[in-house]
Amino acid sequence: MGILIQNGTVVTAEATIRADVLLEGSTIKEVRAGIPPAEHTTVDAAQMLVLPGGIDAHTHLDMPFGGTTSADDFETGTRAAAIGGTTTIVDFAIQARGAKMRDALDTWWKKAEGKACIDYGLHMIVTDLGSDNGKAGLDDMDEMVREGVASFKLFMAYPNVLMADDATIFKALKQTASNGALICMHAENGSVIDVIVQQALAEGKTAPIYHALTRPTIAEAEAVQRAIAMAEIAGAPVYIVHLSSEDALNQVREARDRGVPAFAETCPQYLLLSLEDNMRNNSFEDAKYVFTPPLREKKNQARLWDGLKTDNLQVVSTDHCPFCFADQKTLGADDFTKIPNGGPGIENRLQLIHHHGVNSGKITLNRFVEITSTAPARIFGMYPSKGTIAVGSDADIVIWDPHADHTISAATHNMRVDYSMFEGFKVTGNARQVFSRGELIVEHGKFIGKAGRGNYLKRAARGGAWR
Ligand code: URP
Ligand code: ZN
Ligand code: ZN
Repeated sequence: MGILIQNGTVVTAEATIRADVLLEGSTIKEVRAGIPPAEHTTVDAAQMLVLPGGIDAHTHLDMPFGGTTSADDFETGTRAAAIGGTTTIVDFAIQARGAKMRDALDTWWKKAEGKACIDYGLHMIVTDLGSDNGKAGLDDMDEMVREGVASFKLFMAYPNVLMADDATIFKALKQTASNGALICMHAENGSVIDVIVQQALAEGKTAPIYHALTRPTIAEAEAVQRAIAMAEIAGAPVYIVHLSSEDALNQVREARDRGVPAFAETCPQYLLLSLEDNMRNNSFEDAKYVFTPPLREKKNQARLWDGLKTDNLQVVSTDHCPFCFADQKTLGADDFTKIPNGGPGIENRLQLIHHHGVNSGKITLNRFVEITSTAPARIFGMYPSKGTIAVGSDADIVIWDPHADHTISAATHNMRVDYSMFEGFKVTGNARQVFSRGELIVEHGKFIGKAGRGNYLKRAARGGAWR
Protein backbone atom coordinates (compact mmCIF):
# COMPACT_ATOMS: atom_id res chain seq x y z
CA MET A 1 0.00 0.00 0.00
CA GLY A 2 1.46 3.32 -1.09
CA ILE A 3 0.54 6.93 -1.67
CA LEU A 4 -1.06 7.61 -5.03
CA ILE A 5 -0.87 11.17 -6.34
CA GLN A 6 -3.68 11.40 -8.88
CA ASN A 7 -4.81 13.74 -11.64
CA GLY A 8 -1.78 16.04 -11.56
CA THR A 9 0.54 17.32 -14.27
CA VAL A 10 3.99 15.84 -13.77
CA VAL A 11 6.79 18.21 -14.76
CA THR A 12 10.39 17.09 -15.14
CA ALA A 13 13.30 18.76 -16.88
CA GLU A 14 12.44 16.79 -20.02
CA ALA A 15 8.65 16.57 -20.20
CA THR A 16 5.26 17.70 -18.98
CA ILE A 17 2.75 14.85 -18.80
CA ARG A 18 -0.60 14.04 -17.27
CA ALA A 19 0.22 11.10 -15.02
CA ASP A 20 -0.38 9.61 -11.62
CA VAL A 21 2.59 8.97 -9.36
CA LEU A 22 2.71 6.05 -6.94
CA LEU A 23 5.02 6.36 -3.96
CA GLU A 24 5.88 3.15 -2.15
CA GLY A 25 8.08 3.38 0.92
CA SER A 26 10.77 5.95 0.25
CA THR A 27 10.82 5.69 -3.55
CA ILE A 28 8.69 6.18 -6.65
CA LYS A 29 7.08 2.93 -7.78
CA GLU A 30 5.13 3.95 -10.88
CA VAL A 31 4.51 7.00 -13.08
CA ARG A 32 1.71 6.67 -15.62
CA ALA A 33 -1.84 7.74 -16.32
CA GLY A 34 -4.63 5.71 -14.74
CA ILE A 35 -2.86 3.86 -11.91
CA PRO A 36 -5.68 2.01 -10.11
CA PRO A 37 -6.30 3.35 -6.59
CA ALA A 38 -6.35 -0.20 -5.11
CA GLU A 39 -5.61 0.13 -1.39
CA HIS A 40 -3.43 3.18 -1.74
CA THR A 41 -3.88 6.43 0.13
CA THR A 42 -4.86 8.86 -2.60
CA VAL A 43 -3.87 12.51 -2.92
CA ASP A 44 -5.79 14.59 -5.43
CA ALA A 45 -3.47 16.81 -7.46
CA ALA A 46 -6.08 18.08 -9.97
CA GLN A 47 -5.07 21.55 -11.26
CA MET A 48 -1.68 21.03 -9.60
CA LEU A 49 1.83 20.51 -10.89
CA VAL A 50 3.77 17.56 -9.55
CA LEU A 51 7.45 18.49 -9.36
CA PRO A 52 10.62 16.80 -8.14
CA GLY A 53 11.64 18.29 -4.79
CA GLY A 54 13.79 21.38 -5.07
CA ILE A 55 17.54 21.10 -4.50
CA ASP A 56 19.38 24.09 -3.05
CA ALA A 57 23.07 23.42 -3.66
CA HIS A 58 24.37 26.44 -1.75
CA THR A 59 23.35 27.10 1.87
CA HIS A 60 25.16 28.16 5.04
CA LEU A 61 23.36 26.92 8.16
CA ASP A 62 24.84 27.41 11.62
CA MET A 63 27.97 28.83 10.02
CA PRO A 64 30.48 30.89 12.00
CA PHE A 65 31.30 33.87 9.81
CA GLY A 66 32.10 37.57 10.17
CA GLY A 67 32.39 37.38 13.98
CA THR A 68 28.99 35.75 14.45
CA THR A 69 27.01 32.69 13.32
CA SER A 70 24.38 32.47 10.61
CA ALA A 71 20.95 32.73 12.21
CA ASP A 72 19.33 29.54 10.90
CA ASP A 73 20.58 26.23 12.19
CA PHE A 74 19.94 22.90 10.49
CA GLU A 75 16.49 22.67 12.07
CA THR A 76 15.09 26.12 11.33
CA GLY A 77 16.81 26.38 7.96
CA THR A 78 15.79 23.01 6.58
CA ARG A 79 12.25 23.42 7.92
CA ALA A 80 11.92 26.71 6.06
CA ALA A 81 13.45 25.09 2.96
CA ALA A 82 10.87 22.28 3.07
CA ILE A 83 7.98 24.70 3.42
CA GLY A 84 9.21 26.38 0.24
CA GLY A 85 9.40 23.09 -1.67
CA THR A 86 13.09 22.28 -1.26
CA THR A 87 13.71 18.69 -0.20
CA THR A 88 17.52 18.58 -0.44
CA ILE A 89 20.26 21.05 0.41
CA VAL A 90 24.00 20.97 0.05
CA ASP A 91 25.59 22.99 2.86
CA PHE A 92 29.26 23.84 3.48
CA ALA A 93 31.59 22.43 6.13
CA ILE A 94 34.62 24.66 6.75
CA GLN A 95 38.12 23.26 7.19
CA ALA A 96 39.82 25.40 9.85
CA ARG A 97 43.31 26.42 8.78
CA GLY A 98 45.81 23.80 9.91
CA ALA A 99 43.07 21.29 10.79
CA LYS A 100 41.97 18.07 9.12
CA MET A 101 38.96 18.13 6.80
CA ARG A 102 37.69 15.10 8.73
CA ASP A 103 37.30 17.35 11.83
CA ALA A 104 35.17 19.78 9.84
CA LEU A 105 33.03 16.97 8.48
CA ASP A 106 32.46 15.60 12.00
CA THR A 107 31.59 19.09 13.25
CA TRP A 108 29.01 19.65 10.48
CA TRP A 109 27.48 16.19 10.91
CA LYS A 110 26.98 17.08 14.59
CA LYS A 111 25.36 20.39 13.64
CA ALA A 112 22.86 18.51 11.47
CA GLU A 113 22.26 15.56 13.81
CA GLY A 114 18.76 15.53 15.31
CA LYS A 115 17.96 18.70 13.40
CA ALA A 116 17.91 18.25 9.62
CA CYS A 117 14.31 18.09 8.40
CA ILE A 118 15.27 17.16 4.82
CA ASP A 119 18.18 15.31 3.23
CA TYR A 120 21.47 17.16 3.08
CA GLY A 121 24.88 16.85 1.50
CA LEU A 122 28.03 18.74 2.38
CA HIS A 123 30.64 20.52 0.31
CA MET A 124 34.00 21.05 2.02
CA ILE A 125 35.50 24.54 2.13
CA VAL A 126 39.25 24.09 1.68
CA THR A 127 41.36 26.75 3.39
CA ASP A 128 44.68 25.01 3.64
CA LEU A 129 46.36 21.98 2.06
CA GLY A 130 49.15 21.89 4.66
CA SER A 131 52.87 21.38 4.22
CA ASP A 132 54.78 18.84 2.10
CA ASN A 133 53.48 20.42 -1.09
CA GLY A 134 49.91 19.99 0.09
CA LYS A 135 50.10 16.20 0.34
CA ALA A 136 48.10 15.92 3.58
CA GLY A 137 45.36 18.21 2.31
CA LEU A 138 45.15 16.47 -1.04
CA ASP A 139 44.90 13.08 0.71
CA ASP A 140 42.20 14.63 2.90
CA MET A 141 40.28 15.58 -0.24
CA ASP A 142 40.35 11.96 -1.43
CA GLU A 143 39.16 10.82 2.00
CA MET A 144 36.30 13.33 1.82
CA VAL A 145 35.26 12.00 -1.59
CA ARG A 146 35.06 8.52 -0.05
CA GLU A 147 32.72 10.04 2.56
CA GLY A 148 30.44 11.40 -0.13
CA VAL A 149 31.78 14.95 -0.09
CA ALA A 150 31.99 15.14 -3.85
CA SER A 151 32.66 18.88 -4.09
CA PHE A 152 34.97 21.46 -2.53
CA LYS A 153 34.69 25.22 -2.32
CA LEU A 154 37.71 27.47 -2.60
CA PHE A 155 37.75 31.22 -2.13
CA MET A 156 39.56 33.72 -4.31
CA ALA A 157 38.21 36.44 -1.95
CA TYR A 158 38.25 37.22 1.80
CA PRO A 159 42.05 37.59 2.24
CA ASN A 160 43.41 36.32 5.58
CA VAL A 161 40.13 34.57 6.33
CA LEU A 162 39.16 32.03 3.68
CA MET A 163 41.14 33.06 0.59
CA ALA A 164 43.33 30.43 -1.03
CA ASP A 165 46.26 31.37 -3.26
CA ASP A 166 46.45 30.25 -6.88
CA ALA A 167 48.90 27.45 -6.09
CA THR A 168 46.46 25.95 -3.57
CA ILE A 169 43.57 26.34 -5.98
CA PHE A 170 45.53 24.75 -8.81
CA LYS A 171 46.62 21.79 -6.66
CA ALA A 172 43.04 21.24 -5.53
CA LEU A 173 41.80 21.40 -9.12
CA LYS A 174 44.42 18.83 -10.18
CA GLN A 175 43.32 16.54 -7.36
CA THR A 176 39.72 16.66 -8.58
CA ALA A 177 40.90 15.82 -12.09
CA SER A 178 41.89 12.46 -10.61
CA ASN A 179 39.34 11.89 -7.83
CA GLY A 180 36.32 13.04 -9.84
CA ALA A 181 35.07 15.71 -7.41
CA LEU A 182 34.08 19.21 -8.42
CA ILE A 183 35.65 22.50 -7.33
CA CYS A 184 33.16 25.26 -6.54
CA MET A 185 34.81 28.64 -6.83
CA HIS A 186 34.03 31.88 -5.05
CA ALA A 187 35.43 33.99 -7.86
CA GLU A 188 36.36 37.55 -6.94
CA ASN A 189 39.86 39.02 -6.92
CA GLY A 190 40.15 39.42 -3.15
CA SER A 191 43.56 41.10 -3.15
CA VAL A 192 42.52 43.88 -5.53
CA ILE A 193 39.21 44.34 -3.71
CA ASP A 194 41.05 44.63 -0.39
CA VAL A 195 43.12 47.56 -1.71
CA ILE A 196 39.98 49.33 -2.90
CA VAL A 197 38.27 48.63 0.45
CA GLN A 198 41.19 50.02 2.49
CA GLN A 199 41.22 53.15 0.36
CA ALA A 200 37.46 53.65 0.87
CA LEU A 201 37.80 53.27 4.64
CA ALA A 202 40.70 55.75 4.66
CA GLU A 203 38.41 58.23 2.91
CA GLY A 204 35.77 57.76 5.64
CA LYS A 205 33.44 55.76 3.40
CA THR A 206 32.00 53.41 5.98
CA ALA A 207 28.32 53.00 4.97
CA PRO A 208 26.98 49.62 3.69
CA ILE A 209 26.74 50.85 0.09
CA TYR A 210 30.55 50.88 -0.03
CA HIS A 211 30.52 47.11 0.30
CA ALA A 212 29.01 47.07 -3.19
CA LEU A 213 30.99 50.00 -4.59
CA THR A 214 34.34 48.48 -3.63
CA ARG A 215 33.75 45.18 -5.44
CA PRO A 216 33.72 45.92 -9.20
CA THR A 217 32.23 43.41 -11.61
CA ILE A 218 35.61 43.23 -13.38
CA ALA A 219 37.11 41.83 -10.16
CA GLU A 220 34.53 39.06 -10.43
CA ALA A 221 35.08 38.53 -14.16
CA GLU A 222 38.86 38.41 -13.77
CA ALA A 223 38.60 35.75 -11.07
CA VAL A 224 36.11 33.71 -13.12
CA GLN A 225 38.45 33.85 -16.10
CA ARG A 226 41.45 32.84 -13.92
CA ALA A 227 39.52 30.03 -12.23
CA ILE A 228 38.48 28.60 -15.58
CA ALA A 229 42.01 28.94 -16.95
CA MET A 230 43.47 27.08 -13.97
CA ALA A 231 40.79 24.38 -14.32
CA GLU A 232 41.60 24.01 -18.01
CA ILE A 233 45.31 23.58 -17.28
CA ALA A 234 44.48 21.07 -14.54
CA GLY A 235 42.10 19.18 -16.83
CA ALA A 236 39.25 19.54 -14.35
CA PRO A 237 35.74 20.96 -14.48
CA VAL A 238 34.89 24.01 -12.39
CA TYR A 239 31.65 25.41 -10.99
CA ILE A 240 31.40 29.14 -10.29
CA VAL A 241 29.18 29.85 -7.28
CA HIS A 242 26.88 32.85 -6.86
CA LEU A 243 27.71 34.46 -10.21
CA SER A 244 26.32 37.99 -10.11
CA SER A 245 27.20 39.99 -13.21
CA GLU A 246 27.19 40.11 -16.99
CA ASP A 247 30.97 40.58 -17.04
CA ALA A 248 31.46 37.34 -15.12
CA LEU A 249 28.87 35.49 -17.21
CA ASN A 250 30.69 36.47 -20.40
CA GLN A 251 33.74 34.58 -19.16
CA VAL A 252 31.71 31.43 -18.53
CA ARG A 253 30.01 31.69 -21.92
CA GLU A 254 33.30 32.16 -23.73
CA ALA A 255 34.73 29.06 -22.04
CA ARG A 256 31.66 26.92 -22.67
CA ASP A 257 31.63 27.98 -26.33
CA ARG A 258 35.12 26.48 -26.54
CA GLY A 259 33.86 23.23 -25.02
CA VAL A 260 35.38 23.77 -21.57
CA PRO A 261 33.42 22.10 -18.72
CA ALA A 262 32.70 25.32 -16.83
CA PHE A 263 29.44 25.56 -14.89
CA ALA A 264 27.86 28.34 -12.89
CA GLU A 265 24.99 29.16 -10.61
CA THR A 266 23.28 32.42 -9.85
CA CYS A 267 20.89 33.32 -7.03
CA PRO A 268 17.48 35.03 -6.78
CA GLN A 269 19.02 38.16 -5.26
CA TYR A 270 21.10 38.79 -8.40
CA LEU A 271 18.14 38.10 -10.67
CA LEU A 272 15.64 40.25 -8.80
CA LEU A 273 17.38 42.85 -6.62
CA SER A 274 19.70 45.66 -7.65
CA LEU A 275 21.80 48.56 -6.44
CA GLU A 276 19.23 50.98 -7.82
CA ASP A 277 16.21 49.31 -6.21
CA ASN A 278 17.61 48.11 -2.92
CA MET A 279 20.56 50.26 -1.89
CA ARG A 280 19.42 53.67 -3.03
CA ASN A 281 18.73 55.11 0.43
CA ASN A 282 22.33 55.19 1.54
CA SER A 283 21.18 54.29 5.03
CA PHE A 284 22.19 51.46 7.32
CA GLU A 285 19.08 49.52 6.14
CA ASP A 286 21.26 48.74 3.11
CA ALA A 287 23.13 46.29 5.35
CA LYS A 288 20.27 43.85 4.69
CA TYR A 289 21.72 43.51 1.19
CA VAL A 290 25.36 43.14 2.13
CA PHE A 291 26.44 39.83 0.69
CA THR A 292 29.28 38.78 -1.58
CA PRO A 293 29.47 39.22 -4.52
CA PRO A 294 27.41 42.35 -3.86
CA LEU A 295 24.23 43.66 -5.43
CA ARG A 296 24.87 44.84 -8.97
CA GLU A 297 23.39 47.43 -11.29
CA LYS A 298 19.95 46.48 -12.58
CA LYS A 299 21.14 46.03 -16.17
CA ASN A 300 22.82 42.74 -15.13
CA GLN A 301 19.51 41.06 -14.29
CA ALA A 302 18.31 40.52 -17.86
CA ARG A 303 21.69 39.11 -18.85
CA LEU A 304 21.55 36.59 -15.99
CA TRP A 305 18.04 35.49 -17.04
CA ASP A 306 19.44 35.08 -20.58
CA GLY A 307 22.22 32.96 -19.12
CA LEU A 308 19.71 30.66 -17.46
CA LYS A 309 17.75 30.37 -20.68
CA THR A 310 20.78 29.55 -22.82
CA ASP A 311 22.33 27.13 -20.28
CA ASN A 312 25.38 29.28 -19.70
CA LEU A 313 24.06 29.31 -16.13
CA GLN A 314 22.87 25.86 -15.05
CA VAL A 315 21.62 26.32 -11.50
CA VAL A 316 19.78 28.73 -9.21
CA SER A 317 20.81 28.31 -5.56
CA THR A 318 20.16 30.71 -2.70
CA ASP A 319 23.52 31.19 -0.93
CA HIS A 320 21.24 31.35 2.12
CA CYS A 321 23.41 32.88 4.84
CA PRO A 322 21.07 34.77 7.17
CA PHE A 323 22.12 37.32 9.77
CA CYS A 324 19.55 39.23 11.82
CA PHE A 325 19.45 42.92 11.11
CA ALA A 326 18.90 43.96 14.74
CA ASP A 327 21.87 42.34 16.39
CA GLN A 328 24.12 40.89 13.69
CA LYS A 329 24.17 43.22 10.69
CA THR A 330 24.64 46.07 13.19
CA LEU A 331 28.11 44.74 14.01
CA GLY A 332 29.08 46.88 11.03
CA ALA A 333 27.21 50.04 12.03
CA ASP A 334 30.41 52.10 11.81
CA ASP A 335 32.33 50.08 9.24
CA PHE A 336 30.85 48.18 6.29
CA THR A 337 33.67 45.61 6.41
CA LYS A 338 32.33 44.41 9.77
CA ILE A 339 28.81 43.71 8.47
CA PRO A 340 28.47 39.91 8.34
CA ASN A 341 28.17 39.01 4.67
CA GLY A 342 25.09 37.09 3.62
CA GLY A 343 21.36 37.16 3.15
CA PRO A 344 18.36 34.86 3.68
CA GLY A 345 16.37 33.10 0.94
CA ILE A 346 16.20 29.32 1.43
CA GLU A 347 12.38 29.40 1.74
CA ASN A 348 11.57 31.57 -1.28
CA ARG A 349 13.69 30.25 -4.15
CA LEU A 350 11.01 28.21 -5.92
CA GLN A 351 8.32 30.87 -5.44
CA LEU A 352 10.56 33.60 -6.84
CA ILE A 353 11.91 31.67 -9.81
CA HIS A 354 8.50 30.24 -10.69
CA HIS A 355 6.86 33.66 -10.54
CA HIS A 356 9.55 35.80 -12.15
CA GLY A 357 10.84 33.11 -14.48
CA VAL A 358 7.90 30.97 -15.57
CA ASN A 359 4.92 33.29 -15.05
CA SER A 360 6.71 36.13 -16.81
CA GLY A 361 7.62 33.89 -19.75
CA LYS A 362 11.39 34.04 -19.30
CA ILE A 363 11.82 30.30 -18.83
CA THR A 364 9.65 27.22 -19.36
CA LEU A 365 8.29 25.07 -16.55
CA ASN A 366 10.71 22.34 -17.58
CA ARG A 367 13.66 24.70 -17.38
CA PHE A 368 12.40 25.86 -13.97
CA VAL A 369 12.56 22.24 -12.75
CA GLU A 370 15.95 21.78 -14.38
CA ILE A 371 17.69 24.78 -12.79
CA THR A 372 16.16 24.32 -9.33
CA SER A 373 16.36 20.52 -9.04
CA THR A 374 17.63 18.35 -11.91
CA ALA A 375 20.84 20.19 -12.80
CA PRO A 376 22.06 20.50 -9.19
CA ALA A 377 21.28 16.78 -8.71
CA ARG A 378 23.34 15.88 -11.78
CA ILE A 379 26.23 18.27 -11.16
CA PHE A 380 26.56 17.37 -7.49
CA GLY A 381 26.28 13.59 -7.80
CA MET A 382 22.73 12.94 -6.56
CA TYR A 383 20.96 12.06 -9.83
CA PRO A 384 18.75 10.08 -10.43
CA SER A 385 17.93 9.42 -6.74
CA LYS A 386 17.20 13.12 -6.52
CA GLY A 387 16.20 15.69 -9.12
CA THR A 388 13.57 13.85 -11.14
CA ILE A 389 10.30 11.97 -11.00
CA ALA A 390 11.08 8.47 -12.27
CA VAL A 391 10.61 4.89 -11.17
CA GLY A 392 13.21 4.11 -8.49
CA SER A 393 14.00 7.73 -7.64
CA ASP A 394 13.52 8.99 -4.09
CA ALA A 395 9.93 10.01 -3.51
CA ASP A 396 10.83 13.68 -3.04
CA ILE A 397 7.81 15.37 -4.56
CA VAL A 398 6.30 18.83 -4.44
CA ILE A 399 2.64 19.30 -5.25
CA TRP A 400 2.82 22.80 -6.59
CA ASP A 401 -0.19 25.07 -6.89
CA PRO A 402 0.66 27.33 -9.84
CA HIS A 403 -2.24 29.67 -8.99
CA ALA A 404 -1.62 30.18 -5.26
CA ASP A 405 -0.94 33.82 -4.38
CA HIS A 406 1.55 34.60 -1.65
CA THR A 407 3.19 37.75 -0.33
CA ILE A 408 6.70 37.25 0.98
CA SER A 409 7.30 38.88 4.36
CA ALA A 410 9.47 38.51 7.45
CA ALA A 411 6.24 38.65 9.44
CA THR A 412 5.14 35.29 8.06
CA HIS A 413 8.25 33.53 6.83
CA ASN A 414 9.73 30.52 8.61
CA MET A 415 13.41 31.44 8.43
CA ARG A 416 14.89 32.51 11.79
CA VAL A 417 15.83 35.96 10.65
CA ASP A 418 14.19 39.33 11.29
CA TYR A 419 13.95 40.60 7.71
CA SER A 420 13.31 39.42 4.19
CA MET A 421 15.34 40.54 1.20
CA PHE A 422 12.11 40.12 -0.79
CA GLU A 423 9.75 41.89 1.63
CA GLY A 424 6.41 42.61 -0.05
CA PHE A 425 7.15 40.61 -3.21
CA LYS A 426 3.87 39.14 -4.47
CA VAL A 427 4.25 35.73 -6.09
CA THR A 428 1.83 33.35 -7.77
CA GLY A 429 2.75 29.70 -7.35
CA ASN A 430 3.56 27.91 -4.12
CA ALA A 431 4.15 24.48 -2.60
CA ARG A 432 0.90 22.91 -1.36
CA GLN A 433 2.24 19.55 -0.17
CA VAL A 434 5.80 18.30 0.08
CA PHE A 435 6.92 14.67 0.31
CA SER A 436 10.43 13.70 1.33
CA ARG A 437 11.34 10.06 0.72
CA GLY A 438 7.64 9.23 0.62
CA GLU A 439 6.76 11.04 3.84
CA LEU A 440 4.36 13.97 3.77
CA ILE A 441 6.35 16.67 5.56
CA VAL A 442 4.59 19.90 4.52
CA GLU A 443 0.90 20.54 4.16
CA HIS A 444 -0.43 23.99 3.26
CA GLY A 445 2.60 25.89 4.55
CA LYS A 446 3.00 23.86 7.76
CA PHE A 447 5.90 21.53 8.45
CA ILE A 448 4.49 18.27 9.84
CA GLY A 449 7.64 16.11 9.74
CA LYS A 450 10.13 15.58 12.54
CA ALA A 451 13.40 17.40 13.01
CA GLY A 452 16.27 14.97 12.57
CA ARG A 453 14.51 12.89 9.89
CA GLY A 454 16.82 14.27 7.17
CA ASN A 455 19.61 11.94 6.03
CA TYR A 456 23.19 12.79 5.13
CA LEU A 457 23.65 12.16 1.41
CA LYS A 458 26.79 10.40 0.27
CA ARG A 459 27.18 12.01 -3.12
CA ALA A 460 28.96 10.38 -6.04
CA ALA A 461 32.05 12.00 -7.48
CA ARG A 462 31.58 12.66 -11.20
CA GLY A 463 27.95 11.80 -10.63
CA GLY A 464 26.91 13.53 -13.81
CA ALA A 465 28.19 14.22 -17.28
CA TRP A 466 30.35 17.33 -17.28
CA ARG A 467 28.48 18.98 -20.11
O1 URP B 1 27.90 36.91 1.38
C1 URP B 1 27.94 35.70 1.28
N1 URP B 1 27.83 35.16 0.09
N2 URP B 1 28.09 34.94 2.38
C2 URP B 1 28.27 33.55 2.42
C3 URP B 1 29.66 33.13 2.13
C4 URP B 1 29.93 33.01 0.65
O2 URP B 1 30.85 33.62 0.16
O3 URP B 1 29.23 32.26 -0.02
ZN1 ZN C 1 31.11 32.54 -1.69
ZN1 ZN D 1 27.87 31.04 0.00
